[in-house]
Amino acid sequence: MWRSIAGVSNSLNGAFIVFEGPEGGGKSLQAQLLAVSLERAGHPVLMTREPGGTGVGEAIRAVLLERGDVAIAAETEALLMTAARAQHVREVIAPARAAGRVVLCDRFVDSTYAYQGGGRGLDGEALATIQRFATAGVEPDLKLLLDLPVEEGLRRRQADPETLNRIDRDELAFHQRVREAYLRLARGDPDRWAVIDALGSPDAVARAIDTAVRDRLGLHGAIQAPRAPYSVASGPASS
Ligand SMILES: Nc1ncnc2c1ncn2[C@@H]1O[C@H](COP(=O)(O)OP(=O)(O)OP(=O)(O)O)[C@@H](O)[C@H]1O
Ligand SMILES: [Mg+2]
Repeated sequence: MWRSIAGVSNSLNGAFIVFEGPEGGGKSLQAQLLAVSLERAGHPVLMTREPGGTGVGEAIRAVLLERGDVAIAAETEALLMTAARAQHVREVIAPARAAGRVVLCDRFVDSTYAYQGGGRGLDGEALATIQRFATAGVEPDLKLLLDLPVEEGLRRRQADPETLNRIDRDELAFHQRVREAYLRLARGDPDRWAVIDALGSPDAVARAIDTAVRDRLGLHGAIQAPRAPYSVASGPASS
């Protein structure tokens, strides 16, 4: 019965846009800014995140990210992330797309390739097999890679220590492997990925994202400009 969830139209109605990248690139912030921008232009938006986005997904997120005292094998981590995704696709993403909403998702399948594959060294083919099972063919129309040197991303995250999680605390070399894996993924599928320089101000990054969405999804005139100036200090909490 899930067969029908694949192959949703690529037009703005039901467009599926994901935010990817290493820690602290501004994914959570920029997803919220794009949601505001699209909604102002009259597009119904659904914002969601991984791991999480559903009742069972948020429970899995708590196990994965919040419990510093629990040892989790890389394979277990990959399966839990992917299990949360299977629920997320069926309960949230596919229905929202079918209802014509623009779905903005903070992390998706490529986070598993970058973190559990590139970062932890798990086999990419095995990861791809479980992703196919979990997503039943649901694929983003546009993948935004918010790229920046990992030191800068971790510096931003550490400015907000209350939100640091188990994976943030991994070693620097791990985060560098994650970033390199993302850049390889983007090079391998340039039509689907837009690499965004995340080092700029929040406004500059938001403008680059608006341009990418307009150019790649053909949303000419869909997004209002100029966008209201944004201040980091008053911004939404990161996740
Ligand atoms: N362009 C920017 N310049 C400076 N600081 C920024 C910028 N974008 C976001 N920040 C700040 O950096 C921190 C991390 O941003 P955010 O949580 O949006 O990143 P993220 O990519 O979602 O991180 P994570 O991968 O850890 O979820 C936040 O405190 C945020 O306010
Ligand atoms: Mg985030």
